[in-house]
Amino acid sequence: MTKIIVTGGTGYIGSHTVVELQQAGYEVVIIDNLSNSSVDVLQGIFAITGVMPSFEKIDCTDYQAMESVFKKHADAQAIIHFAASKAVNESVEKPLLYYRNNLVSLMNLLELMATYTMPNLVFSSSCTVYGQPDILPVTENSPIKVSLSPYGNTKQIGEEIITDTVHANKSIHAIILRYFNPVGAHESALIGELPNGVPQNLMPFVTQTAIGIREKLSVFGNDYDTPDGSCIRDYIHVVDLAKAHVVAVERMLQGKQKQNPETFNVGTGVGLSVLEIVQKFQDVNNVSLNYQIVGRRAGDIEKVWADATIANNELGWKATKSVEEIVQSAWKWELQLQKKRKAN
Ligand code: UD1
Repeated sequence: MTKIIVTGGTGYIGSHTVVELQQAGYEVVIIDNLSNSSVDVLQGIFAITGVMPSFEKIDCTDYQAMESVFKKHADAQAIIHFAASKAVNESVEKPLLYYRNNLVSLMNLLELMATYTMPNLVFSSSCTVYGQPDILPVTENSPIKVSLSPYGNTKQIGEEIITDTVHANKSIHAIILRYFNPVGAHESALIGELPNGVPQNLMPFVTQTAIGIREKLSVFGNDYDTPDGSCIRDYIHVVDLAKAHVVAVERMLQGKQKQNPETFNVGTGVGLSVLEIVQKFQDVNNVSLNYQIVGRRAGDIEKVWADATIANNELGWKATKSVEEIVQSAWKWELQLQKKRKAN
């Protein structure tokens, strides 16, 4: 069985990817420091797939600990590197934490991949690298903009570190996936997003408001240059996003890469406004959401959505899940969490 190492494998996107990998027949080793996730996620993965992934509670910035995993799993064929900090505001307050967490871990991985001849890396990047694009939708060749946050910088610099490293070391291959806005949960509601504290992202704030944990959703701005005045994003179901990682790994294992590194936009190609998402959530789930329009949030991009044609053609991957499935699965997950909260 082909073995894949997944850093950040108990996190939101990581856990959904572990499920897809196991269901595609891969053996998975998770590395996670549990800084923003729970060990219980492993039970959810097991409940869905019937397979318990190997788990190493390790911080990717700890070179020695990482080396021990590489020695133990020297037969792994690829690494998917999710482990990173991702709160934009926090990164502005604690830039060094972000540079250390996100970049030292990446450099450790690349160093160890070279030492232990582990050939393939999939890296989590973000549409944040495009800033506010001048032309929409954005393609992989759209200009990279000056980042507005240390978090965004870590993604841009991370891409550059990978590019320089694979150019210098031909034995390492990399695929960079630029995610748009991942939302929703596994249809089983056995895994989903588990934000720490007050959610910064839209969908968990929506579901927590609907369930009564938060009093009111603030919609940040209705004076943008968009049809309804609220910001537009490309919301992608997390299971669709997870599947993109499986095909990326397969492409590398089959030696099908056309250049090194390769970069793909992973989005649906459809932009939706905040108010459209709010409306869909209420209509599909038949719940009412307390929300109000407030001022703009500093640093927000007005509108961005993907041109995912290259991923469609080269990876043979396409987002298939609808916005209805997105809001339905997000709500089902929140209801499941609520049951657990009440039981505890
Ligand atoms: C942000 C980052 C992105 C990062 C992602 C990870 C920016 C520009 N983008 O995405 O790089 O990968 O977080 O977490 O910082 N909204 C509300 N009310 C809320 C929360 C959000 O109206 O309570 C709106 C926002 O204004 C935005 C949309 O919902 O228009 C999506 O916001 P969010 O889920 O935070 O994602 P991004 O800001 O797009």
